[in-house]
Amino acid sequence: MPLLADDAPALPLDAQGILELAARSMFQLFSSVSQGMFLVDRSGRIVWVNEGYQRFLPDLGFSSVDQFVGRTVEEVIPNTQMRRVLETGQPVLIDLLTNKAGTFVVSRIPLRDDADRVIGAIGIVLFDHPETTLQPLISKFALLQRDLDDARRELASQRRRSLAVAGDGERRSKYTFASFIGSSPAAAEVKRQARRAAQSSSPVLLLGETGTGKELLAHAIHAASSRASGPFVSVNIAAVPDTLLESEFFGVAPGAYTGADRKGRDGKFKLADGGTLFLDEIGDMPQSLQAKLLRALQEGEIEPLGSNKLVPFNVRILAATSRDLATLVREGRFREDLFYRLHVLPVRVPPLRARRTDIPALVEALGEDLALRNGTAPPELLPDAMALLAGQPWRGNIRELRNVLEQAVMRSDSPSIDAAQLERVLREAGVEPAAPAPVQDSAPMDDAEDESRYLRPLSEQVAELERRAIAATLKAHGGNKLATARQLGISRATLYGRLENPE
Ligand SMILES: Nc1ncnc2c1ncn2[C@@H]1O[C@H](COP(=O)(O)OP(=O)(O)OP(=O)(O)O)[C@@H](O)[C@H]1O
Ligand SMILES: [Mg+2]
Repeated sequence: MPLLADDAPALPLDAQGILELAARSMFQLFSSVSQGMFLVDRSGRIVWVNEGYQRFLPDLGFSSVDQFVGRTVEEVIPNTQMRRVLETGQPVLIDLLTNKAGTFVVSRIPLRDDADRVIGAIGIVLFDHPETTLQPLISKFALLQRDLDDARRELASQRRRSLAVAGDGERRSKYTFASFIGSSPAAAEVKRQARRAAQSSSPVLLLGETGTGKELLAHAIHAASSRASGPFVSVNIAAVPDTLLESEFFGVAPGAYTGADRKGRDGKFKLADGGTLFLDEIGDMPQSLQAKLLRALQEGEIEPLGSNKLVPFNVRILAATSRDLATLVREGRFREDLFYRLHVLPVRVPPLRARRTDIPALVEALGEDLALRNGTAPPELLPDAMALLAGQPWRGNIRELRNVLEQAVMRSDSPSIDAAQLERVLREAGVEPAAPAPVQDSAPMDDAEDESRYLRPLSEQVAELERRAIAATLKAHGGNKLATARQLGISRATLYGRLENPE
């Protein structure tokens, strides 16, 4: 049988008629395949919702359509961007919207009258639960969101600093050791190592997973070093195209190129003169530049591009990477000689799961920071929520913790946050929540990665153990030194010696 019977109604013959038919068909199509639709008038007031949309109402806090229709769209749909569509007349064909009802893939289309004036807009929920239907897209979105949040924070703190120290704010470090929250043994130990590194002028290599606070510690080391009054200049090697890295590092001599660079340009080594140069993501450095960096570090001189002249520099080097540099060396992708040049003072920043007892303090500090920026009350985590946080593996470490908190706050009507809300946020970020756990540090042997803490001089480890044993015993005896010495089986003189000179 032919698909179109001869007696089927034909297409209208006039263009207007065809357009109207197309518009009507499209509207019907969207209405049936989408998860829900609503209309707002020119003033942004909800005038209609279809049946599909009604099932989102309870999650948005409404028990009937009557409560919803007639209100302005911002009042009833948190984080909506419909107002922008009304103001600009531009459609948003695809977007992600997150609010307390969940995350949705949405479309927003302006409606125009015959004179082409915007008279309203239609909002369409194309998918709900995009975390299951659109997993790859959502993961990418989460990653981009993370970078955007980091960039926003960075911008905000740069603005704050440049307001505080007008004109001179940009090249100062923004964190001190006090910004590194945590008093667990692992946190205390990394701070001790970093403080010691601050006293020295040798290169420091900060190693640790993503989001553990390497950059924060680099700032803190600079701020506690004798170069604190000099500039802190950082270069993210992974973010600069390989072809531009050399000029970024060493600068360009005047006349080396035609065009914009004709006047020459200072490199980061020059900008950091008298201060600290932080080479972030050093594991991503291309081989050709590794050779040049090594030469510069050995000679204490750099050669700006096109200059044929060696210029001495006075810069202290800090480097960081979340990659396994030793493996890169073994695979021949990172020069061994450069590795040893940088590996003079390695500081291993522990993952969050190795310092779970710090989670409540981190939650408090991160929550206060969020509240300050959003002008809201700091979040309060209910006990089940805190236990859930303690049980997670936190592959993205403190950055991930911050993002989870931020999302939870955004979705919540009240400051108190429970485990169910956090579970939803984790799932939407593509993480299957692990079981809750008591807020306790995992035993070092539970976690293979923790064994890296033993890869340092034995004398250092023994000294650390002694310090901890003495502190714990002193505490247990209310500061009584005689009882402490007795319990530890050492003489009082030895105890006094250790207390006076803990290193
Ligand atoms: N101990 C801490 N106390 C408070 N905030 C922290 C702590 N550690 C990290 N943060 C915060 O977590 C975020 C990530 O830290 P940072 O950028 O220093 O990580 P990183 O180790 O450099 O990560 P990556 O390898 O991904 O660059 C930042 O917002 C930082 O301020
Ligand atoms: Mg970093």
